[in-house]
Amino acid sequence: MTTREDAAREAAALSEQLHRHAHLYYVLDAPELPDAEYDKLFQRLQALEAEYPELRTADSPTQRVGGQVLDGFAKVRHRVPMLSIRTETDITPGGASAFDARVRKELGLPEDGPQVEYVCELKFDGLAMNLRYEHGVLVQAATRGDGEVGEDVTQNIRTVHEIPLRLNGHAPPVVEVRGEVYMKRADFDALNARQRERIAAGQKNEKVFVNPRNAAAGAVRQLDPAIAASRPLSFFAYGLGEVSAPAEGGPDCPTQFDWLQQFHAWGFPVASQTARARGAAELIAFHENIGRQRDALPYDIDGVVYKVDSLALQGQLGFVSREPRWAVAHKYPAQEQLTEVLAIEVQVGRTGKLTPVAKLAPVFVGGVTVTNATLHNEDEARRKDVRVGDTVIVRRAGDVIPEVVGVAPDSLARPETERGALFTMPRVCPVCGSDALREEGEVDYRCTGGLFCPAQRKEAILHFAARRALDIEGLGDKLVEQLVDAQLIRTLPDLYRLGFTTLAGLDRMADKSAANIVAALEKSKQTTLPRFLFGLGIRHVGESTAKDLAKHFGKLDAIMGATEAELLEVNDVGPVVATSLRTFFDQPHNREVVEQLRASGVTWEEGEPAARTPRPLAGKTFVITGTLPTLSRDEAKDKLEEAGAKVAGSVSKKTDCVVAGAEAGSKLDKAQALGVKVVDEAGMLAILADGWPEV
Ligand code: IVH
Repeated sequence: MTTREDAAREAAALSEQLHRHAHLYYVLDAPELPDAEYDKLFQRLQALEAEYPELRTADSPTQRVGGQVLDGFAKVRHRVPMLSIRTETDITPGGASAFDARVRKELGLPEDGPQVEYVCELKFDGLAMNLRYEHGVLVQAATRGDGEVGEDVTQNIRTVHEIPLRLNGHAPPVVEVRGEVYMKRADFDALNARQRERIAAGQKNEKVFVNPRNAAAGAVRQLDPAIAASRPLSFFAYGLGEVSAPAEGGPDCPTQFDWLQQFHAWGFPVASQTARARGAAELIAFHENIGRQRDALPYDIDGVVYKVDSLALQGQLGFVSREPRWAVAHKYPAQEQLTEVLAIEVQVGRTGKLTPVAKLAPVFVGGVTVTNATLHNEDEARRKDVRVGDTVIVRRAGDVIPEVVGVAPDSLARPETERGALFTMPRVCPVCGSDALREEGEVDYRCTGGLFCPAQRKEAILHFAARRALDIEGLGDKLVEQLVDAQLIRTLPDLYRLGFTTLAGLDRMADKSAANIVAALEKSKQTTLPRFLFGLGIRHVGESTAKDLAKHFGKLDAIMGATEAELLEVNDVGPVVATSLRTFFDQPHNREVVEQLRASGVTWEEGEPAARTPRPLAGKTFVITGTLPTLSRDEAKDKLEEAGAKVAGSVSKKTDCVVAGAEAGSKLDKAQALGVKVVDEAGMLAILADGWPEV
């Protein structure tokens, strides 16, 4: 039996180990212990604390999971005010020079005097936090609030793994470490993906966050710490609040850089880009260097911060109106801006994908003027509730296409009658008028006029000319681009009207090459039905489906005239492919292109339809499980497939029949749970002989 003393000793040792491994894992990114081992230690500590509740200390690693739901947050008066920082909006090198010049002037340094030493940091885009440690233990976390009074968010901050609950090494009686709580972009994207799933599942109170800052702020101000714990937050330390004097056990750090190293030694993350610099030239170099890295960082920054390194000089410089004279934020172009939606248009991509695009009042964002921003697809546009006339947040980071991240709250709050209509995707292609279709399970609508649609022209021609299709040698990317741009080709049949003179008249086209292309075009006319079918670029009709179709029907007209039911009889053709084929050939423009190609002399040898084997089980899905008495599984599968059935690997609501042999396991259980028909081998053979039993 464990005595209380044994338990206390064991809990302390476990706590020590867990702190160390959490730091290795979360801060240093260098885990030494497999997750499962960590979990074991954690669970053992939880068990001890359950038995002896007095062992459950505030800095116990088990306290990261979040405690009671709160009614509200208590107010905290900061012992040392949390100041803000002057922002240098001149984003050119001039911004850094101006700061250095001000500092030198205040310090009374002559023009030819020594350079001032600075620390250059990143300006993180999150929320400032004051973390109070007494004798090394985190006792309170408070938001900045108005700088004088903030809110006590200790419970939520305990769930942030990058924040030590207990300082490593020597700890002073009191120290307040300040820094930024933020959310990494990848964590933000994953959180929003989860939020979208919840909303899709009908959870009314969930929302999608506009940006990581907003998500981090929401998590910090969560009244339910369990929810806060499920929102992945991170932390960087960069400043100091109250601290015991060196004579009373506080560290002796004469510079900001020394403090940052002390924070790191205590177990806090400090950005690795942090650097010392001398004089304006090195500040400028830092600003430019980080500017180049900005888009590759895993989190958002909106600038860099320069701080006079020496605390003695900081003291000399002092403050003006709550802003220190010894620090400045030097910004980068904002990656998010507000602007108005003038219209919502639909663009058609090279492959026929329809994308809703917001036309915007011109706005300078991410370093360029933006007038268009993508809304991705119909669901996104509707979920974000973007309407014409709304003020929206536009984001452009790096070379990424600008996107609308959300509608400004003011616009969302307007009465429905004063807002434009909710976006709906047009059901015809805005470029060519063919039907636009959205397949089940897909988010995108696509134009079905592949052969005719000007938006898809280049892609369609390249596909038609590809080696595995009509194999028109020499007709590559560049040439197609040239021919389409010069309006020499609009649709595929135009290819066969190109003569030597036209081709030879193109820029950078030698007579010899022109002659080769004419010959290649002539040669391509004699083709095969599968190549021709594949070359049409019908969605979901790849080479092997094209072969199956050709074999089954023998003639192109038979394929073009087949009903969906008839198409479904073809080996490997399911409902998606059948619908795609039917829709394609239903577009008058597509049929016209096919006719014109035939008229231009494109020909192939047509065959006879394959002998019609009866396919009594077409459209039925079977699953085979366990060991059958006489047939191997492959033999059973072949027999079922010959009869037109599909044989799947797992049981679902869509399964029509499960064939169960000896030692059938979970698949049989699942079939029974779902009420799916179950037969044995003899039952299967009976179905094969007599057909599907209609009830
Ligand atoms: S120092 C006395 N350093 O920017 C100086 N602030 O207005 C106090 N921030 O509220 C701030 N990165 O949320 C400092 N490396 C950094 C920072 C930083 C981001 C934020 C912080 C503060 C605001 C300044």
